[in-house]
Amino acid sequence: MERVISSEAPATTTTGLISVIVPTYKEVDNLRPLVERIAATMTAEGRHYEIVVVDDNSRDGTEGVMAELAAAGFPARLVTRVNQRGLSSAVIEGFRQARGEILVCMDADLSHPPEALGQLIVPVETAGADFVIGSRYVRGGGTEEGWGLFRWLNSKVATLMARPFTSARDPMAGFFALPRAVFERADSLSPIGYKIGLELIVKCRCRNVREVPIHFANRKFGQSKLSLREQINYIKHLKRLADYKYGWFSHLAQFCLVGVTGALVDLGTYKLLIVKLLAPLERALLATFPTGSFLADHAAGEALTLVAGLAIWVAMTWNFFLNRRLTFSHSRGGNALRQYWQFVVACSLGALVNLGIRVSLPAIIPFFNHYKLLAGAVGIVAGTVFNFALSHHWVFRRQETRE
Ligand code: GDD
Ligand code: MN
Repeated sequence: MERVISSEAPATTTTGLISVIVPTYKEVDNLRPLVERIAATMTAEGRHYEIVVVDDNSRDGTEGVMAELAAAGFPARLVTRVNQRGLSSAVIEGFRQARGEILVCMDADLSHPPEALGQLIVPVETAGADFVIGSRYVRGGGTEEGWGLFRWLNSKVATLMARPFTSARDPMAGFFALPRAVFERADSLSPIGYKIGLELIVKCRCRNVREVPIHFANRKFGQSKLSLREQINYIKHLKRLADYKYGWFSHLAQFCLVGVTGALVDLGTYKLLIVKLLAPLERALLATFPTGSFLADHAAGEALTLVAGLAIWVAMTWNFFLNRRLTFSHSRGGNALRQYWQFVVACSLGALVNLGIRVSLPAIIPFFNHYKLLAGAVGIVAGTVFNFALSHHWVFRRQETRE
């Protein structure tokens, strides 16, 4: 059971209330200035607000500071989670505990200027925005000096990879506002990794996404918790979002991607086997049988077939594991041996379809007689689609798998 320490019970929505959710992990030094700056802005703008800090049991004095702030009259409360860690799930917990009509999320480390809160909230209040991002990458926004090339590049690449899901310039941002009603239409949230904003844009089916420029400041106290692990999680997250948004088409794209890597593995193995196995084998054969004899010629041909077959088999096995682990990751729990032989059958039938089309197209349609390579390409596409259909509906079908 999760221990949630909360001064007030989570409850119903309060009209006109703004909830500012702040996920924290070891941010004790930032809490006081953060709460004071949020309070200053909100009070100056005459807004009714609450601050919900969701801390993952930092044990750094957070509880004490939060108690002092509450005693000093700030409408701030602390939710402490003990059995769970993670930025995204903390934000979701905060949203669930919040009572505001408008939900805002921001970092504790003062990277996100509390003074920009009003600009984030206004489009939700008056322009019917589904989601408003405090954005670094729209005109007027930016990041503080001192971002190394690596962090900058990292952020750019990650943003580009989110393109298929949103046209927002800064969908990675952890500074955003949305109406509670939009949050409530969220579909099966999978809070993996850091990109809770992106997850919400996709799963809450946000259409009217706005961006307001902010200046992203460097943190003053403590350390960033963004690690390599989070980057790997991001890739997993993107896959899940793609499966969610594009369904079988996403699976097909991954299947083709795996296929391309398989082709490379095939050629690499082929090359290796030719050098390491075929050449010595041929030399041995030639030494054993007289040159030009029936046996010498045929044995060499058989050896090539063997090597080619081996390369194909290695690539097929490679494809099998990747598809099982990635493309159809829902089948990871299924019987691998059963799936393996079925995959081999699916690949073989796919190859037959490929071969059949390649040979019959030129025979049936004169046009392809002149363009045999084109017929080959049609064969490849048809074989792949056939193989995919079998993999999807038979080899890695959803039933009888657990996850
Ligand atoms: N509860 C909880 N649990 N909070 C966490 C956890 C966790 O496991 N990990 C991090 N946080 C809190 C931090 O305490 C901070 O308030 C906020 O989440 C952001 O964490 P940072 O460690 O400061 O992340 P960052 O500065 O590298 O990343 C920020 O910028 C990215 C874009 O450059 C975040 O805003 C990201 O969401 C954003 O993608
Ligand atoms: Mn930060």
